[in-house]
Amino acid sequence: MHKDFLDIIDYTPEELQGLLDLAVQLKKEYQAGGNPPVLKGKVLAMIFQKPSLRTRVSFDMGMRHLGGDALYLSPNEIGLGKRESIADIARVLSGMVHGIMARVFQHEHVLELARWSSIPVINGLSDYSHPCQALADIMTVYEKYGQIKDVNITYVGDGNNVAVSLMQIAAKLGANFTIANPEGYDMPSSAIETIRPIAAKSGSTLNFLRDPHAAVHHADVIYTDTWTSMGQEEETAKRELVFPPYQVNQQLVSEANPDVIVMHCLPAHRGQEITDEVADGPHSKLFPEAHNRLHAQKAILYTLMGGK
Ligand code: CP
Ligand code: NVA
Repeated sequence: MHKDFLDIIDYTPEELQGLLDLAVQLKKEYQAGGNPPVLKGKVLAMIFQKPSLRTRVSFDMGMRHLGGDALYLSPNEIGLGKRESIADIARVLSGMVHGIMARVFQHEHVLELARWSSIPVINGLSDYSHPCQALADIMTVYEKYGQIKDVNITYVGDGNNVAVSLMQIAAKLGANFTIANPEGYDMPSSAIETIRPIAAKSGSTLNFLRDPHAAVHHADVIYTDTWTSMGQEEETAKRELVFPPYQVNQQLVSEANPDVIVMHCLPAHRGQEITDEVADGPHSKLFPEAHNRLHAQKAILYTLMGGK
């Protein structure tokens, strides 16, 4: 039993499968009329150092669906590590609420929150990873294919936080993972090296390519994300020169398996990493994927805060 949900890598395939099964069950139950109030009286503090639509609304609504409540703490309000140390914030919140969800810049900050909290801490995105997104993503893949093992997932674009978590969950659960990214925009080499033995064990194949066309060959899933993540805004102009060959457009989609689904964690920069035609086209799973954040995170909240 884990106290926190900080990274996909910390969870075994069986534990991830358990979260996924619970997410599917909670979704069914919710659609059939509602979830039981397993988090009645429980409150989640949500610390945001960066903007958010999906993460904020899905955690807030997820807590309400399970009978609990959520508190939004804006960057200016608590001044994580500025107005007050992370260790002090963690210890204060531990006596007032029942869980913390944090969206931070430095990954170390969410780890430090977890270290000093006696209550569960959930990583709601850091510069290194986005594990809640990955759980919702793999749920979306499962809903389409009825399995995860042997599904070919291709990520096209920046080797960023979303790519790292997607690679980790694919490798843990036996999906094949291919990434095509420009030189200079690789995932951290430590993330790649750590995942190799895990992939070998699950039978997942990993491919690290430069050519998006080669990468989408035989793809069951094409995934993309923004070229410039939050906090990298100074690099926007430079990135806009490098990334256009990595755009997910109709041509690229037509080179994948005929039944391919297209995914994007959102927010999308339409006309850059994805065209309108693809985002709104027949292969797109962008909105079901976003909606699955709700169900996947309810499984995490229930497991960590509800004694599931
Ligand atoms: N995908 C995602 O995390 O979206 P937000 O940044 O809007 O939360
Ligand atoms: N890679 C993006 C994901 C946004 C949800 C970012 O970090 O800005």
